[in-house]
Amino acid sequence: LANGLAVTPPMGWNSWNHFNCFINETIIRETADALVSTGLAKLGYRYVNIDDCWAEYNRDAKGYLVARKSTFPSGIKALADYVHNKGLKLGIYSDAGYQTCSKTMPGSLGHEEQDAYTFASWGIDYLKYDNCNNDGSKPTVRYPKMTRALMKTGRPIFFSLCEWGDMHPALWGASVGNSWRTTNDITDNWESMVSRADQNEVYAEYARPGGWNDPDMLEVGNGGMTKDEYIIHFSIWAISKAPLLIGCDLRNMTKDTMEILGNEEVIAVNQDPLGVQAKKVRMEGSLEIWAGPLSGYRTVVLLVNRGSTREAITANWDDIGIPLDTVVEARDLWEPNFVCIFIGFLQHETLHEQFKQKLTATIDPHVCKMYVLKPID
Ligand code: DGJ
Repeated sequence: LANGLAVTPPMGWNSWNHFNCFINETIIRETADALVSTGLAKLGYRYVNIDDCWAEYNRDAKGYLVARKSTFPSGIKALADYVHNKGLKLGIYSDAGYQTCSKTMPGSLGHEEQDAYTFASWGIDYLKYDNCNNDGSKPTVRYPKMTRALMKTGRPIFFSLCEWGDMHPALWGASVGNSWRTTNDITDNWESMVSRADQNEVYAEYARPGGWNDPDMLEVGNGGMTKDEYIIHFSIWAISKAPLLIGCDLRNMTKDTMEILGNEEVIAVNQDPLGVQAKKVRMEGSLEIWAGPLSGYRTVVLLVNRGSTREAITANWDDIGIPLDTVVEARDLWEPNFVCIFIGFLQHETLHEQFKQKLTATIDPHVCKMYVLKPID
């Protein structure tokens, strides 16, 4: 959507994956605080997004949405001011139906202009728009109504289409929103995560600055996968130019979680100005090679072992689109450089060896290797 937003995929946090309906204004404020104090805000995580269950069940006498008094007593405007004062942005949630999925609050169907106006007047920066409890009409009719309503407010509001991929929103989302879900909901386990990654990959051609494929929010830090599996999760989301919306409790993050979410070089791949989604370029049983172009004639390569035995995986230049006689230098984005760690920096390794025609790594089960390859002249 040409609203000047989403030049790179959005980064931030959303309440749903960890808190579900159990949210309140304290959690939102403390999360904003944590984004700043952990340093994640500085790395680009700017959106603090409230999901379902923030409003009263009934609109007011004039039809306006009302923040839930028991959990958001200060109101959304006050929360937006708080978040803005920290240099962050506030996101909110509604639904292109009569009620949201939780059925605890109204949807915006039939109230698009009124609600868009309300959100803009509160200072909202991001709207996630769900698809539950609608009237059965096509999303290609219901979603653009909100697009136009948001445009009419004059405030740039990131518009996230949460249609779950059923009507292939990648095919029509570019003129309607800034991101579109390609899958139904992720859960915090390996199978769910890799299947979301696969379903999203199919639509790679449709991602571009202004509008991105969305395989759902991150589960990193929620406890259902191993550290290596979370590294695969974060790496695939990064190369897929997916929204990086953290879904854990940022107030109680482990060191491992911070190390994953805070990997600057992996974030830089996600935010690369070229904005091209990587693809799975080769599969050999449960071994996968994903690759995509980055700015400056660089290439990102992800080798993933989805199987149960330690295996060698090879990325061939003709699979990943590098001219055959090109010699590259490879930066390993997850392998720590121990000298730097010793002196207190978390840095990663540029491999000593240079590579021609192919790069091979031997990789344990449910582990990945992520490289940025740079031609040497
Ligand atoms: C369905 C969406 O896909 C989820 O991300 C979340 O927003 C829930 N609805 C909220 O009810």
